[in-house]
Order: sequence, then C-alpha cells, then structure tokens
Amino acid sequence: MAPIDPHSYTDSTHPFTTHIALSLYFDFSSSIIHSSALLSLSSPHTGDLSLDTRALSITSVVDAETLTPIPFSLSSEIDSIKGALLTVSLSNQARFLISFETSPNSSALQWLSPPQTFNKTSPFVYTQCQAIHARSIFPCQDTPAARIKYSAKINIPRTLSAVMSARHVERRVPTAGEAGSACDDSIWCAENRVVEEFVMEQPIPPYLFAFAVGEISHREVGPRTRVYAESVPSVLDAAATEFAGTEDMIRQGEKLFGPYDWERFDLLVLPPSFPYGGMENPRMVFLTPTVIKGDATGAQVVAHELAHSWTGNLITNKNNEHFWLNEGFTTYAERRIVEVVQGEDRAALNIGIGWKGLNDEMERFKDNMEFTKLKTQQEGVDPDDVYSQVPYEKGFQFLWRIERQIGRPAFDEFLKKYISTFKFQSIDTETFLVFLKENIPGIEKEINLELWTEGTGIPPDALAPESKLYTQIVSLAYEFRNGRMPKEDEVADWGGQEWELYLEFLPKSVEASQISALDARYQLAESKDYEVKVAFLQLAISSGCRDYYGEVEKTLKEVGRMKYLRPLYTYLVQGPGKEEEKILAKRVFAENRACYHPIAQGVVEAILSKHL
Ligand code: BES
Ligand code: ZN
Repeated sequence: MAPIDPHSYTDSTHPFTTHIALSLYFDFSSSIIHSSALLSLSSPHTGDLSLDTRALSITSVVDAETLTPIPFSLSSEIDSIKGALLTVSLSNQARFLISFETSPNSSALQWLSPPQTFNKTSPFVYTQCQAIHARSIFPCQDTPAARIKYSAKINIPRTLSAVMSARHVERRVPTAGEAGSACDDSIWCAENRVVEEFVMEQPIPPYLFAFAVGEISHREVGPRTRVYAESVPSVLDAAATEFAGTEDMIRQGEKLFGPYDWERFDLLVLPPSFPYGGMENPRMVFLTPTVIKGDATGAQVVAHELAHSWTGNLITNKNNEHFWLNEGFTTYAERRIVEVVQGEDRAALNIGIGWKGLNDEMERFKDNMEFTKLKTQQEGVDPDDVYSQVPYEKGFQFLWRIERQIGRPAFDEFLKKYISTFKFQSIDTETFLVFLKENIPGIEKEINLELWTEGTGIPPDALAPESKLYTQIVSLAYEFRNGRMPKEDEVADWGGQEWELYLEFLPKSVEASQISALDARYQLAESKDYEVKVAFLQLAISSGCRDYYGEVEKTLKEVGRMKYLRPLYTYLVQGPGKEEEKILAKRVFAENRACYHPIAQGVVEAILSKHL
C-alpha cells in the first residue's frame, strides 16, 4: 500500500477514477439517499482497489458491462478520521457499478425539516464535502490528488428542485426504471417525482462535489451569474442586490489571473445553518445568508470564492497538508479583487483583520506549533479540528512578501504563468517552490523560503497593513484600555468591518461595566452584522458580563456558521471557574445540536469535550 494522502485510503499504485455517473434517489422521510455510482478508472485494473467511504451501506458491486458480481469488502474497522475502507477486487476491469445507501448521519449532508428553513414549507438538503466528506455521499478516492468528471441523475419530489456544482442538463419525469422502488411510502412514488440531470465535464477534486435540493428559485444578476435561494422573495431580492457587482469582479479576476474557465458563476444562498461563510463549489458557490447585510463584506466573500476558480479549483492542493496553496493564494487573490472594486482602504482593513486573526492563532496553537506552519503534518489529524486562519493569512503574508520583493508587475506575470502552467493539476508546496525559484532566479537569497513554508510562528518579514484608517482604529482600541471610549464623531463613518477590527483589538478581559457602557452607546450586541455582534459577545463572555448571555444563546440558536460557533462556545467553556457558562454551553448545544450541520456538530463537540 502506497498512501498519497494522510486522510484517504487511496493507493497510489492503483489507477485513479476519472469519471463517476451517479443516480441518487432522495428519501426525505428517512433522510437517506438510495444510490448507485458507476466508476470508470483511467485503465483496467486487476486486484484490489481501495475506496474511501463513511457511514455508507454497500449493497452490491457489479461489472458495468456484464453485470456480473464483483467481490468487495467493507472493513469493519472504522477509522475516526478516514472512515471505512471499501476494497473492490477487480479482474482486468475499468468500469463497475456500486449500489449503496447513505445514512441519515452522513457527515457531508444536512437534512433540514420545513421549520428549519426560510420558507418553512418544504424540506431542504445540502452538501459540504470539503475537507473529507464526499466519501459519506458516495464511495470514491476522496483525495484532492484525484480529479474526476461526473454526471448525476437526482430523483426528488416534484415540488422541489436541485442545483449542483455542474451544468444542468434537464428536468424530466422519471423513466420506468427510476420509479422509486427503493421507497415504499406512496406519497413519494413515481408520479410525484422528477429527475434533474447534471454533468460536470471538467475534472474536479471530490471535495468540490456539491448539491442542494429544496424549494429553490433564482434571480438573474449578471450575464453568467444567477443567485439561487429558497423561494422567499425577500431573501432572493436582498441577495440579488447584495451580489449585483459580481460580473465586475469576474472581469477583474480574468484580468489578473487569466480566463474564467468554468462558464457560469452562480451563487446559492443557504439557510443560516450553513457551516461556512462560503464554499467554492465550481459553477455554484455556496454562501451563508449572514453575508447579506448591504455592506462590502458580502462582495468580499464572493470575491474569495470567485478567486478559488483559479487558485483551488484550477490548481488544487495535493492533500490537506498543503492547504495553504488553496487558501493563501485565494486570500491574496481576493484582496487584489477587493482593492480594485472597493478601493485600497477596504483592502487594507481586510488585511488588518487578517493580521490580527493570524496573531491570535499563534496563541491558540501555542502548545501545538505544528499548526502555525504553512506546510503541516496531518497524519492522524482531523482537518476540521485544525481549521484556522494560518493557511489563509500566513499564506497571504508569504505571497505579499514575494510581491514586495519583486514588485507588482513581475509578481502578476508570475501568477498568470503559475496558473496556466498547473491548471487542472493537484500540486504540493515543493512543486510551487521549484516553480518559484525557476521563474524568479535568486529569490531564495532574498527571502527565507524554508522559514516561511516549514517554520513555526510568524516570520520577521511579515507585515501589518499601512493605512490611515487601520492605524486610527487600532490606536482608538488601545485608548479604550485607558478608559477612553470612542467619540461619536470618530465612529460616524464606521461600518461593520471598522467595528469588527476595533473590537478585535480591545483587550480580551476588561471591566464588565466598560463593556455595558460601550454597548449602551453603540448598540453592538444587537448589531444585524454577525461579525460585530459575535466580536462583541466574545468580549462580553471573557469579561464575565452576564447581562449578555441571553443574546449569546439566541445567536448560537440562530446561526450555524462555525466562524461564530467556535469562538462563542470556546469562550464559554475555556478557563478556570466558569461553572455557569459551562452549564449554559452544554444546555444550548444539547437543545440545538440537531439544527447544526454534522461538521459543526463535530467541531462543537470537540470544543466541549476538551474543556468539560
Ligand atoms: N474553502 C473554504 C471553506 C472550507 C475550508 C470548507 C476548509 C471546508 C474546509 C472557503 O473558500 C472559505 O475559505 N470560506 C471562508 C470565506 C472567507 C475567507 C471570505 C469562510 O467560510 O469563512
Ligand atoms: Zn477559501
């Protein structure tokens, strides 16, 4: 066995799967997908082939041409990170059909009952496959080193519709064979169902596989962009307004990084339990509704996910140990787009928030400095547990450092060449460094590349942004330590990001009375902007200001975005004493667990079990 990815059973001596044809029959009454997957390998194979699965029941494996059974075994030993190994024993075969079922607790899927949605009338289900959850939907070589094309037939109730990270082909009535024998509930039988067909003709890593099914509508926002969301006019209208500038950003991306290769760039706004801000699923980016608030941040998240169209989706990290190649490049690219469409001050504010975040992560990982490196060792590590700002912000800082060294025009040329050289490939840090040294001769004498990629902590040549607004906000935050509250005229022009930065720079523990006074003047706890609200509530918890615990509870119940759950639960339970807070955290989680995506459930469980 020759592993190529610490998070996958994929064996590098086996051929890769190049295409998967999926048939998925959605049973909302049991939260199960009855499925088949036709896998095509790059070449016929004889002997064992290793596939990743998690919580799947495998019914049969047959030869795709002759339909004769193929021996298989699903390991009874389940690795808590990798899942269960499926071994298929092939004899000179390149195409085989696996029949299987997902389980209601598939780690990639969140099944929402009607009351958990915006429109309250229909169920909804959606995927989140990054980092290693595609295997809980279908058996695959679930490593970004593999790239697959796919097709999918999605069989769903007629009242619903489906979107995917793929081209929509048609919506049609099921054929006789698709009637739904898997389901014995008469209301779900054939005449109440439709099949939606999709194809993804470009090879993508499995973590970019995505679908959502529900009562979904859309609005046009640009020549290659629609925004999709649950069929609630107010949500759709707000989303269409928020993302009106998307085409401008795509054009800017093309100027900087080369042609947009994915044809369409649609957006899907999910229910509030979506565990991330955004997910770069190709052709159909997934977004949290918390970014829709009528300021610059919605566009920033879109700029980030758009930038992944080049860095991440075209050039992909070979495995999660090189995750910075995805997120560091994308954070750099996002800020270049933001700089053009929103101006240098906005971009600097972004860099400042990131810089503070990076410095805070050094504190979080002080006992585990491995995760302050760009290139990390992840054997035996769950990538969801070590998700942090480091690959984003240290990666950004590294690329920004190179830009400063060689100048922007040369760096822009380098980036374009990097993308055109490696597109549709999965690469590692070493490959990047070799390419860098080849194309910028002598760079290793100017920048300590090894310290940046292999070293812990923040290298001395990293930089805080230089901007008047940024400096002003940081010094106001320092003055708060001496008891000076910002005056109304000083904050008159502040939007959410200015407040976020200010609050992030306040000392973690101040007098409870100071916290209440700040809120009395500026109503931060009730902010509609979750970045501001959560930054404030974090301070309230760390200062022991119990008046705000009601608001903390409400927030933990309203949203499932891990960026908010992580700090709020952590601040409640970490540190000595805190008995009341621990009880609160445990109760709120118990009451709300089922409303979080399974990935978020796992992350909160890890936080609570570490501290309780
Ligand atoms: N690809 C990530 C989200 C992700 C990372 C999901 C790792 C699962 C595992 C996405 O592009 C992202 O970075 N989202 C950010 C948006 C932000 C940086 C603008 C988020 O969700 O906060
Ligand atoms: Zn990203």
